[in-house]
Amino acid sequence: MLIFTTQEDLRSHLITNFENSKTIGFVPTMGALHQGHLSLIQKSISENDTTVMSIFVNPTQFNNAMDLENYPRTLDADVEKIEKISPDIIIFAPSVDDIYQGKTLSQHFDFDGLENEMEGKHRPGHFDGVGTIVKRLFEIVQPTHAYFGEKDFQQLQIIKKMVEITGLPVEVIGQPIFREENGLAMSSRNERLSSKQREEASFIYKTLQAAKNHFGIKDAVEVSNWVENEFKNNTNFRLEYFEIADETTLKSVQNKEPNKKYRAFIAVFMNDVRLIDTISLN
Ligand code: PAF
Repeated sequence: MLIFTTQEDLRSHLITNFENSKTIGFVPTMGALHQGHLSLIQKSISENDTTVMSIFVNPTQFNNAMDLENYPRTLDADVEKIEKISPDIIIFAPSVDDIYQGKTLSQHFDFDGLENEMEGKHRPGHFDGVGTIVKRLFEIVQPTHAYFGEKDFQQLQIIKKMVEITGLPVEVIGQPIFREENGLAMSSRNERLSSKQREEASFIYKTLQAAKNHFGIKDAVEVSNWVENEFKNNTNFRLEYFEIADETTLKSVQNKEPNKKYRAFIAVFMNDVRLIDTISLN
């Protein structure tokens, strides 16, 4: 299994071993891999000649120093999981210095307002950090296809927008959310929950499913009020936001219109662990 820790070594390997015409699938991650990440790798393997996965906890996308410090880092276990899928996957696990060259700063992006909604409101600077690292990784790996999970649906839309703005020649592909048996969306942050909390956290998806049912017969404001009330009555959580938004613009919706796609988005805290989830409402 090949593991590269510098962009220079990765680039020279890719240039030497892969002709321009071949397809390179890329799965960017911050590690602490779960079944959702592994499904992205499987998809990439099935669609490309070679697959590169990056494991890099990107400091510029964290607006909270404690969150960055507590983010799980499990490189050895991650490598073992990837090796079981295929020893041919190339891992890129650079240091912060190799990526940022002493200047750990974000570039500022205008994503047509997508960056100002939901996560953008609550995590200032987060999407500049995501845009900066994903753009840099795309420039280093030069993939033909890149795979992202739909749990971070806003991130997925923003990365598609970044590719449109920069003209980088890569197709961005979203994949459905992977869930635990109880419905909890898989996330690296789940590693920080006890097994009891993981059980209790199934409440998030159950509430989203109920919200979807309500949205068939009630308007967006009524559904939002109902969800807020459900979380007020459940002391395991602190609700940060629940929004029903247009899937394309990510703008909050007041009145439903025919032929539009809607999605509910939620962010909650379980103690200091922040969890997000989303569900299509159509
Ligand atoms: O979704 C993630 O894990 C990260 O935001 C990403 C896309 C790897 C960028 O650091």
